[in-house]
Amino acid sequence: MISQSLESGVRILRFDRPEKKNALTGEMYTALAEAFETVNDDESVRCQLICGHPGAFTGGNDISDFLSYAGKVEMSETPVVRFLRALARNEKPLVAAVDGVAIGIGTTLLMHCDMVFAAPNAIIRSPFVDLGLVPEAGSSLLGPMLMGHARAFELLCLGKTFSAEKAEKAGLVNEVVDDAEAVAKACALEIAAKPSEAMRLSRKLLWGDTKPLEQRVEEEAEIFASRLTAPETIAAFQAFMTKKAK
Ligand code: COA
Repeated sequence: MISQSLESGVRILRFDRPEKKNALTGEMYTALAEAFETVNDDESVRCQLICGHPGAFTGGNDISDFLSYAGKVEMSETPVVRFLRALARNEKPLVAAVDGVAIGIGTTLLMHCDMVFAAPNAIIRSPFVDLGLVPEAGSSLLGPMLMGHARAFELLCLGKTFSAEKAEKAGLVNEVVDDAEAVAKACALEIAAKPSEAMRLSRKLLWGDTKPLEQRVEEEAEIFASRLTAPETIAAFQAFMTKKAK
């Protein structure tokens, strides 16, 4: 459910579960974790492009998955945290193409990208607090750095939807374009064609020390895990499942 291909040094990772708006399951996180754990030492990959389908980048973490492991497994051992750790350690350029919904991790993942292209229909939202949860993927650190506290609060705590245009103004998106995937792919190929070591070193300088990011991923995961069994969280998940059943 994560399809992968390699083209001229660009590894394309596609969320491939369109019937569920590309909601991410444990199996999908494991595939993503494997891709990000190996990419730094894989010379055949000079850039990664992450995308979904028309109308769905991703609907975020699969909510029934949340319900199945809440309180039963150690959060730090879940595929999602394995993926987030690898993402925080990523050293290769990462480009995203957002078409349609980018919810939860679909939003916070963008903060780890070097270039983000969004179609005009993009819906960028992270309803963590509404679900009784807290921001993840290091977004509580990256969000304010990227867009300032006020906009990060609006997105990550208030759960407001950012349109493609608003996300561009906030600095989360580079450009709003009709065919986000085609433009993002052209950008990824352009990155891959540049001298790879100079690109890697330059990117590293721009990102700086990633230790605080890695540490924040762990801190968030610990709080997130404790929230999964909170009554307000369980009520929010059940409300989603009930709405779905109707
Ligand atoms: N977890 C589980 N299933 C999800 C999902 C998620 N995060 N996102 C979408 N789906 C499923 C829906 O339940 C539905 O399944 P069904 O056809 O079996 O009923 C299918 O994907 C299509 O979604 P639907 O809600 O009909 O599409 P929509 O265009 O009306 O709305 C979303 C799309 C993404 C806005 C909406 O599904 C949604 O709000 N999902 C939850 C997002 C969320 O809270 N994610 C967690 C963030 S931490």
